[in-house]
Amino acid sequence: MATESLLDTSTSKALLVKKAHDMNSGLLLLVVSTLLLCSAARMQAALVPEEESALESIRTSFNQPKWTGDPCSNAQWITCSGLSQPDNVWKLNLEKQNLTGTIPADITKFRQVRELILAGNRLDGQIPDFSNMTSLQNLDLSDNNLSGRIPDTSVLTNLTRIALNRNQLSGGIPASIFNHTKLEILLLQDNPLGGPIPELDNLNSLQILDLTNIQANGTVPLSIEKIEKATEIYLGHNPQLSGTLPAMSNLIHLKFFNAGFCALSGNIPDLKNTGGLETLDLQMNDFSGDFPTALLRHESLRLLYLNNNPRLSGSIPDTSMLKSLQEMYTNDCNLTGELNSPALRKSIILQKVGLWNNRLETFPLDLVNLTQLVQIDVHNNTMTGNLPDLPAGVDQITNGVYLKSLNFSNNHFSGGLPSSWYQLSYLEEMVLDSNNLSGVIDPAIGTLTSLKELRIRNNNFSGPMAEEVGLLQNLQILDLRNNQFSGNVPRSLANLPNLHTLLLDNNRFTGIPDVLLNKSRLLISYTNNDNIRIIYATSATGLSTGAKIGIVIGVLAASVIIAVSATILYNRRHKKFDAGQLSAHDMPEAAKSFSLKEIKAITQNHKRVIGKGGFGPVYFGKLVDGKEVAVKVRATDSKQGAEEFLNEVRLLSRLHHRNLVSLVGYCLESHQQILLYDYMSKGTLYDHLYQSSESDISNPDNPSSSTNEMSLHEPLTWKTRLDIAINAARGLEYLHKDCNPPVIHRDVKSSNILLTEKLLAKVGDLGISKQADEQHSRETLNDSGVSTVIKGTFGYLDPEYFTRNRLTTKSDVYSFGMVLLEIITAKKPQTQKFVHSSAKNIIDWVQGALSSDQLESVVDPNLFNEYDRESMIMVVETALLCLRPKGTKRPEMGDVVRVLTKALQMDLGYVDSSSTTDSHRRVSKTADLIAPLTSSSIVSSSSRSFSLQSLPSWDTDAR
Ligand SMILES: *[C@@H]1O[C@H](CO)[C@@H](O)[C@H](O)[C@H]1NC(C)=O
Ligand SMILES: *[C@@H]1O[C@H](CO)[C@@H](O)[C@H](O)[C@H]1NC(C)=O
Ligand SMILES: *[C@@H]1O[C@H](CO)[C@@H](O)[C@H](O)[C@H]1NC(C)=O
Ligand SMILES: *[C@@H]1O[C@H](CO)[C@@H](O)[C@H](O)[C@H]1NC(C)=O
Repeated sequence: MATESLLDTSTSKALLVKKAHDMNSGLLLLVVSTLLLCSAARMQAALVPEEESALESIRTSFNQPKWTGDPCSNAQWITCSGLSQPDNVWKLNLEKQNLTGTIPADITKFRQVRELILAGNRLDGQIPDFSNMTSLQNLDLSDNNLSGRIPDTSVLTNLTRIALNRNQLSGGIPASIFNHTKLEILLLQDNPLGGPIPELDNLNSLQILDLTNIQANGTVPLSIEKIEKATEIYLGHNPQLSGTLPAMSNLIHLKFFNAGFCALSGNIPDLKNTGGLETLDLQMNDFSGDFPTALLRHESLRLLYLNNNPRLSGSIPDTSMLKSLQEMYTNDCNLTGELNSPALRKSIILQKVGLWNNRLETFPLDLVNLTQLVQIDVHNNTMTGNLPDLPAGVDQITNGVYLKSLNFSNNHFSGGLPSSWYQLSYLEEMVLDSNNLSGVIDPAIGTLTSLKELRIRNNNFSGPMAEEVGLLQNLQILDLRNNQFSGNVPRSLANLPNLHTLLLDNNRFTGIPDVLLNKSRLLISYTNNDNIRIIYATSATGLSTGAKIGIVIGVLAASVIIAVSATILYNRRHKKFDAGQLSAHDMPEAAKSFSLKEIKAITQNHKRVIGKGGFGPVYFGKLVDGKEVAVKVRATDSKQGAEEFLNEVRLLSRLHHRNLVSLVGYCLESHQQILLYDYMSKGTLYDHLYQSSESDISNPDNPSSSTNEMSLHEPLTWKTRLDIAINAARGLEYLHKDCNPPVIHRDVKSSNILLTEKLLAKVGDLGISKQADEQHSRETLNDSGVSTVIKGTFGYLDPEYFTRNRLTTKSDVYSFGMVLLEIITAKKPQTQKFVHSSAKNIIDWVQGALSSDQLESVVDPNLFNEYDRESMIMVVETALLCLRPKGTKRPEMGDVVRVLTKALQMDLGYVDSSSTTDSHRRVSKTADLIAPLTSSSIVSSSSRSFSLQSLPSWDTDAR
């Protein structure tokens, strides 16, 4: 009787230890562990012989120091029950002991053990069968390199905590692990588990569920409603997890919910029965419908991330209930309407607001009460009115948080800078580009001493630029292009130690003072009175050894020439146009057929040439319903042309993806081969990279030949380039992974990446694409490749393909690597000579710059140093991985998409997880994304097993 009650209290003591551990309640832990130590010391128990020998064998295999006497009192990593003679081990804790090798089988001999903690080591191999350790309550093997399947745990009915996160476990989530009715914490995140999420009906006690980044597919089970005790659920970074989210109206305790970076669609649940929701992260999905109104009634909501759900529409509802809101990101959605000003002012602890890339029309005029603001970014909306009044820096000192970053660019804001803005002495970044702002810059600008970037191009600011700008000791970039500034360029700028980029084009400045031309390491862009744009880049010792490095020639003239020659070409070829070998019944039924007469009407009799495709001119056209199309006329009479034509029609009428150019129809009449596509009004990536700076501005031997500053395209920003690359990569990923058999594009290049009005990239020209033989599996395709006649474009060709005639999806990856080098350098892949470098080709040139830490020397000067360096390095590294000589060593397009997405986020700076105080916010870290690419997946990519996947949900055109 007495023993029994002793057992009871001790068991509850042990449970207390566990609870204390879980809750991280230091005091409780201290008290209880002191109790345990005392009892262990008092009884001097010897271990049962079997456990004693098992302990010794584990000590040797894990290289732990020998103990003297009773291990229960003398080995720190062991805790015994202290209840019986001989004693039993209750807890083994070898966390972060640099253990290597496999988990010894002897560990399963501790039949009484409650807690087994081997977290944070480098253990590999499989997880042993623990089914004899029936008392186990806490199993923690997290942060190792364990592989193989998760073993069946069904007999371990007392488990309350399972942590297997951050390993290499695979083979799916066993349903048994979801059958533990006592389980409170289940952490499986960061394992390549794969497969669907099992039903969750029996997780009656579960509070924390983490399934982040486990390659889950299928849908979120409806039974998620059954984990009623849940406070934290993480499902993010499972890009194949699709379908809709259940309403989750039973989850009344939920505090953290994260399903960001998946492929979920449908409506966003408003979680209206949930009492204390703190974080909701559903970013980077495909949710649609209206912004859920009830969501903004959660008084405790602190972090809200709904960004990058391009179909999420409606207006942002009344936010006045959001008393706790600190961060709200709803950028890159389709939100419209006005932001309710008085309501937003109530969220007085609001720190970060990201609303960019929406269609919002107004912004509150007065935010002076939001004294904790750190960042506001509303660029790319249609906001009108004046810029808002902001809390002055002095008010913020008491809070210790400071307004650091403002981006109001690409809106219709008017008026001048509000006077409160001249007090933002902690502001680091002010971006007001492309608005209708006017007035003069007050000398008080000199108070913004933290400012690193001041960008106000494309506005109507006037008057002289205040000399006081020379007080901004931290200023790095000053962009005043396209305003009405007059007078002298402030000489005081020469004193700024960090200023490296000064962009002055298209103002009425009187000239550039010599003192600036002699300043070291400064890039100046300036348009002179003859409308010639001059870029100066001074060296470490000033211009004396640097040089005026070039002049951008007019591209308007060049484009006229292209257009004219295209027409001539067309006319010439058109005469020779001969019988094709195709007839309408060769064509797939899904494709719409047009008559020649219709084509004439659509193109207004071939009125407007908009480009030249591989085989002929492309005309602008308009269907009867007003839809704009590109009409590509194939001026070819060869058999091959006919095959390619048919190939493209067949492929494109079957393949649909938002990042593939879609086929509207075709015309086969009178042996003409005409294809109609969606009109891509912004041309190709190639146009944007090369027509904005047709001459090689880093070539000092190439003084100007032409004069016209008019350019067809503004140079693309780094962010836009990344965005284009990501979308193109997604199109290719679709061809490689979601088509069965996979489609190899074979002609990936910047001129085959087309852009919509909103610069959404789509891959086009699938004429020579190749589909692997129907009976070949994907692996065979990767191994042996499709043998075929060499086609493609010089400079982009996979060396493995043209030397060994080995065509695989990795050939596209190679070509895509070239496209990445193009967006970085704005140099054509065929380039063979490089200034100040003996490199023979672009790969060596960039590789050399990367290894000597001189990346700046290869980056396109038209980026004007406006990029995040880490992000740039990440993209350069990715490009070089894609360009590896051996196809099997190149990443998959999916890996490329992931890393580029991360690079973009870094560049935007809005998902910097280190900056948040909330450890529960599960935004991925750089390493998480890079690691799989740079280590295991490249090696294993060719052997990775594929399966037919259902089309991702963003298959339907979202824009
Ligand atoms: C594990 O290795 C690291 C690095 O070698 C070392 O700093 C650390 O002290 C080691 N930890 C233990 C417990 O031996
Ligand atoms: C469990 O214990 C029994 C009895 O000692 C033994 O025969 C069996 O092999 C053990 N099972 C495992 C998986 O260790
Ligand atoms: C599981 O826990 C219960 C209650 O705490 C206990 O009575 C039972 O003995 C435990 N089972 C095992 C196998 O240890
Ligand atoms: C889900 O993943 C598993 C394992 O990775 C795979 O076998 C299965 O076919 C996939 N299911 C779907 C629908 O993609």
